[in-house]
Amino acid sequence: MKEDKFKELETKQLLLRKINDEDAKMLFDNIFNNFDYYKFYYQLPFNSFEEYQQLVFKYKNWYANGNHFRWGIVEKASGEMIGLMQIHSKDELNNNCKIGYIIGYHYNKKGYAREAVKEMITFAFNVIGYHRIEAEIVEENVNSIKLAESLGMHFESTKQESYKLGNQYYNQKVYTLLKK
Ligand SMILES: CC(C)(COP(=O)(O)OP(=O)(O)OC[C@H]1O[C@@H](n2cnc3c(N)ncnc32)[C@H](O)[C@@H]1OP(=O)(O)O)[C@@H](O)C(=O)NCCC(=O)NCCS
Repeated sequence: MKEDKFKELETKQLLLRKINDEDAKMLFDNIFNNFDYYKFYYQLPFNSFEEYQQLVFKYKNWYANGNHFRWGIVEKASGEMIGLMQIHSKDELNNNCKIGYIIGYHYNKKGYAREAVKEMITFAFNVIGYHRIEAEIVEENVNSIKLAESLGMHFESTKQESYKLGNQYYNQKVYTLLKK
């Protein structure tokens, strides 16, 4: 098996680490009990805590398989896991990847998402060595678009009706960052 490049990361206010079984409760209470909040996060709704917990239980196998880049975002001051973020859709042939992120609804607008995602981008470029990073963001998701722009990501194109929610289709904006 290839060397596992997952690394715990740290910023001024945050610890970015693997998500354990015990973290499921905090993540559910801070995020995944409110589908209206995470409806643009590319995740079907969870109907109960137990349902969400089943997903979190799978993480340890994904980490064990190596190079699974999903971080829990922990607020150092409280020890609370307030969000998560990941590198996904890894394209090794073309050396690019996509990123996703979510912060609990009580922890918005504090600059936490920016601090965490910036660190993940540095990791993706400098440790993994990706050349191009992409984020696909539903057009209506103003806060995520602001975040991408604040990270220096460039608007590249719009994918027409590429995101389905119930019976409705939404456009997604593609934001990218190239390694300098
Ligand atoms: C997308 C998402 C992560 C953005 O979170 P956020 O809280 O807006 O982002 P930040 O934590 O970086 O906060 C930035 C904002 O806080 C403000 N802020 C306040 N104090 C700050 C500080 N000390 N440092 C930096 N920014 C601060 C900034 O001015 C900025 O405000 P603005 O967005 O009005 O310009 C969040 O809305 C979310 O999790 N949404 C649901 C999931 C989702 O849609 N994910 C993305 C799918 S593509």
